[in-house]
Amino acid sequence: MLIDIITIFPEIFDFYLNQSLISKAQKKGVLKIKTHQLRDFTNDKHNTVDDKPFGGGRGMVLKFEPLYKAIQKIKNQKLKIKNTNQKLKVILFSPRGKKFTQKMATNWAKQDQLIFVCGRYEAIDERVAKNLATDIVSIGDYVLMGGELPALVAIESVARLLPGAVGNSESLIGERITKTGGFVEYPQYTRPEVVCVDKKGRSCPPNSSTKQKCWRVPKVLLSGNHKKIDEWREKYSKIIS
Ligand code: ADE
Repeated sequence: MLIDIITIFPEIFDFYLNQSLISKAQKKGVLKIKTHQLRDFTNDKHNTVDDKPFGGGRGMVLKFEPLYKAIQKIKNQKLKIKNTNQKLKVILFSPRGKKFTQKMATNWAKQDQLIFVCGRYEAIDERVAKNLATDIVSIGDYVLMGGELPALVAIESVARLLPGAVGNSESLIGERITKTGGFVEYPQYTRPEVVCVDKKGRSCPPNSSTKQKCWRVPKVLLSGNHKKIDEWREKYSKIIS
């Protein structure tokens, strides 16, 4: 999969995308992520990407033309590599968009290429949403300063679904996937069976003082009774779809 990100802050992505699993997925060739500086698609000497809104009002609006040129260039580059019917989405991040869900991530993971458009300033010229974007997406009912974090959120959720991206594929293709492609998330515990803290909040071994507080793993998970374990997990599950 190829992900192209159009942004005026490509540096935001540099550190994050070079960490852990995302970086490994890129090294394995499962995923390629490219950032594009929107200012490189301007003609004036100040590399202006924004302007005042028609009709007045506060703030600045990201201009249509640099975004149009950036998207066109990315699409043409793609055509140079492979002239096939590739599955492509142009995603514009905006608090006004459709809420991002696991189902959306699953659908995006089946695409060949995603172009992420990260807005900044007060708004983006509406002609981008109307004519260039295939999807307008929000990561939640709150307003961020730009689309860079939403793009990173989307990259995380899509990358872990790509075949070969996550080492321990158990967690993805095992029994925690539902028939409809959603995920079942239930509480998990690991060793030790008991953790204790003393009255000063220091970690301590069990039964080392009368005033200690201890937290135990639910007994059923230690029982070896898989029917009961499954029932317990079902009771405490949340389905994310
Ligand atoms: N840009 C600003 N806020 C956003 C949000 N909640 N989701 C997506 N893009 C945004």
